[in-house]
Amino acid sequence: MALSDCRIVGFPKIEDPRGNLTFIEGGNHLDYDIKRVYYIYDVPGGAARGGHAHRETQELLVAMSGSFDVVLFDGNVEQKFHLNRSHYGLYVPAMTWRHLENFSSGSVCMVLASLPYDEADYYRELDEFLVAAKAPAASQSVANRLAA
Ligand code: TYD
Repeated sequence: MALSDCRIVGFPKIEDPRGNLTFIEGGNHLDYDIKRVYYIYDVPGGAARGGHAHRETQELLVAMSGSFDVVLFDGNVEQKFHLNRSHYGLYVPAMTWRHLENFSSGSVCMVLASLPYDEADYYRELDEFLVAAKAPAASQSVANRLAA
């Protein structure tokens, strides 16, 4: 999948003096039905997550609290996104390598996934992903940077 298919998506924000409200409807605000929700939290300072790609699963990443960076890599092009608002999400199509880093203290990353968890859906080795993506082999420095 080309990196150009990755994008920041905005969601409705109902502003209210009692506090704001945002909602996300699968099949409406997202092109897919949401089959799984998971979240990453209590991330120690300096830790990284991700370091893999999915064969089929599409995901939307939302910074529910705090902030973090998401580095996406389609095998050719790499782009870093900074997430820090809970009414925006980053859409990550299948066949996109992701690396999450620079988590602020207390940050929470919520992920809305198009499929249930299946370890067979993962590429956990960058070399294997690059072959499947018909991309050139990565240098050791790129591989080190994109590992979790
Ligand atoms: P992983 O997807 O590698 O984490 P990251 O968010 O850093 O990409 O998952 C870490 C572990 O959690 C791994 O052993 C698989 C397990 N896991 C589940 O059991 N269900 C899930 O929905 C997810 C996302 C992970």
